[in-house]
Amino acid sequence: MSRSAHPAGPRHADVYPEGHYSAPPADLNGLDEKVWAKTVTRNADGVATVGGIEVTRLAEEFGTPAYFLDEADFRARCRAWADAFGKDADVFYAGKAFLSRAVVKWLHEEGLNLDVCSGGELTTALDAGMPADRIAFHGNNKSPQEIERAVRVGVGRIVLDSFQEIVRVAHIAQSLGKRQRVQIRVTVGVEAHTHEFIATAHEDQKFGIPLAGGQAAEAVRRALQLDGLEVIGIHSHIGSQIFDTSGFEVAAHRVVGLLKQIRDEHGVELPEIDLGGGLGIAYTPDDDPREPHDIAKALNEIVTRECEAARLRTPRISVEPGRAIVGPTAFTLYEVGTIKPLEGLRTYVSVDGGMSDNIRTALYDAEYSVALVSRRSDAEPMLSRVVGKHCESGDIVVKDAFLPADLAPGDLIAVPATGAYCRSMASNYNHALRPPVVAVADGGARVIVRRETEEDLLRLDVG
Ligand code: LLP
Repeated sequence: MSRSAHPAGPRHADVYPEGHYSAPPADLNGLDEKVWAKTVTRNADGVATVGGIEVTRLAEEFGTPAYFLDEADFRARCRAWADAFGKDADVFYAGKAFLSRAVVKWLHEEGLNLDVCSGGELTTALDAGMPADRIAFHGNNKSPQEIERAVRVGVGRIVLDSFQEIVRVAHIAQSLGKRQRVQIRVTVGVEAHTHEFIATAHEDQKFGIPLAGGQAAEAVRRALQLDGLEVIGIHSHIGSQIFDTSGFEVAAHRVVGLLKQIRDEHGVELPEIDLGGGLGIAYTPDDDPREPHDIAKALNEIVTRECEAARLRTPRISVEPGRAIVGPTAFTLYEVGTIKPLEGLRTYVSVDGGMSDNIRTALYDAEYSVALVSRRSDAEPMLSRVVGKHCESGDIVVKDAFLPADLAPGDLIAVPATGAYCRSMASNYNHALRPPVVAVADGGARVIVRRETEEDLLRLDVG
């Protein structure tokens, strides 16, 4: 596509309006390894590549918008988590971040377990060959049909989220002549430092059973009496995109407190605790996530210390990272369509996707970075807002970022760190066609989730 000139907009303005951004980066062509998947780099011609393939070639072959996922990076992150926690712990990848049959196969091959939270995720996991006993089934309102299927296929654990569910799962398991392994999800009363909608351990919300007021202890008391259940442990998930392990430490302390109470009251030492997921990733170079081995060390130490103090055998720990595994491994590739400089404000750069492929900016005020990837540019930085093509002014992908001032329609720009909660939360708003996910590895690229077509839309419309 030809590059058309556009009127000069705010470039190096002395004063920029209010926004998320810091100063323009020293080098707009840089692809900071903190936010880009491991094999992403720029070749001698200035074109970004992933797995050795130029993004220009990928755009030609697969179209835009599209998510490109670095398979080697995904597998390396699985191994890093598994190695960090070692053989005395279990790592469950949280499928809600992004799930497909290819991903399930990679997880299986890399020795990870899988957390699913719906019948659809369970189907995908089983269809791709994940052994049922390596699956944990979550959710605050699992349907009786979902529970029955999970019990029937023999999932490794069901995480119970309410008093009703304790009875429901016990009843279903018993009627199938089974004893289901379960954990009980508790809310420990921690205020995680993250967006309100993704914090899950304060008491005033829908997940889990509060430790406060003895509710969680009562839930365990009831579950222990039911023949259909084998209570294997306590589960706590405090929220998402968290950088600071202090919240996990408080959670571990309180969960161990409950284990002690259970031991004192029932003479039973529950063998497992699950501390959930939630570890943050770098969306912009300003974020500093912790490495899996750091996290494993901190969690192991706190649990061991607390258990020694309570004279309990140290339980087997499990964790459920989703975002920290898949988030950094993918980027979304867009083509620039229109460019609208607003004097004294910023330049609006419209791309061929938007809130239908990344709702996180609109929903959580999430921050992303962006780069021109189809060529290098030495033009001045231009304060930009990357927006989509939807009929909504909140349709923002990247709120404030610097792109080169010679940006033009037809250029390809990419938003890194979109592996988690972007395709999995994608929608058909305005009848947008959800983009494909393309796995790239060793110079090869293959579609693992295909692009939706207009026929797909019409197939569901049976009126
Ligand atoms: N375990 C449980 C029980 C969870 O509910 C979640 C996330 C995870 C593990 C994985 O959390 P992660 O490690 O991926 O942060 N849509 C939001 C995030 C919602 C997370 C829901 N539960 C976002 O885009 O930030």
